[in-house]
Amino acid sequence: MARKKIIAGNWKMNMTPTQAVELCATLKDLVKNDDVDVVYCVPAIDIVPVVAAVKGSNVKVGAENFYIEDKGAFTGEISAPMLIDAGVEYIIIGHSERRDIFGENDILINAKVKKAFAAGLKPILCCGESLALRKAGTYKEWISRQIKWDLSGITADQVKNLVIAYEPIWAIGTGETATAEQAQEVCKLIRDYIAELYDADTAAAVRIQYGGSMNAGNAAELLAMPDIDGGLIGGASLKADFGKIVNYNK
Ligand code: 13P
Repeated sequence: MARKKIIAGNWKMNMTPTQAVELCATLKDLVKNDDVDVVYCVPAIDIVPVVAAVKGSNVKVGAENFYIEDKGAFTGEISAPMLIDAGVEYIIIGHSERRDIFGENDILINAKVKKAFAAGLKPILCCGESLALRKAGTYKEWISRQIKWDLSGITADQVKNLVIAYEPIWAIGTGETATAEQAQEVCKLIRDYIAELYDADTAAAVRIQYGGSMNAGNAAELLAMPDIDGGLIGGASLKADFGKIVNYNK
């Protein structure tokens, strides 16, 4: 069965609740496309108004972060049951900004993937190499290691419902997109590695996104690649252009 494309916006730390509702109104008619799953991953404070704003539409809501415990003395954190109660379906885990700025390591990221599945959230697991690793030529080993650690103890059936986002750090917010060939090379590498860790059926089912300066101008070429099943979009998800990415095939 063909994999359905998934186009997700990662709003990062942008959009006040008021701006978030305005953006949902701007995008409302622009992001309709039955061929793709559309997700807005939004800051915690925007979740409740965004869920209300997209109600009855094709848009699903994701969160950008959570903690692995259900409740308790974890000041500043938000739990999976809270997200689910608010109407969240997807959760970004292991974004390079969480890894690099907030010190999240693969042990915590693996625990988050496990917790997300146990709680009923669909993880969008991010991986990707720095410019130094790209230049050194060791990016394939790096990404395989991230996938192996982050998916430790995760079953094949869970991986079939997983979204993996390949985001080369050198392409995030820099305007420098990986070429379609570079992105395809790594997305295929990830799929082949999933086949090695699990089996061919699991590899055929897992959806793999590209992320890093994807925009209305380059989305169609990237999304035409056989192993690229969608995009995780930062800057371009905050404007009307996001509708053009969602409708890359029209
Ligand atoms: P940009 O699209 O702004 O490069 O961000 C990509 C990203 O980090 C999405 O998670």
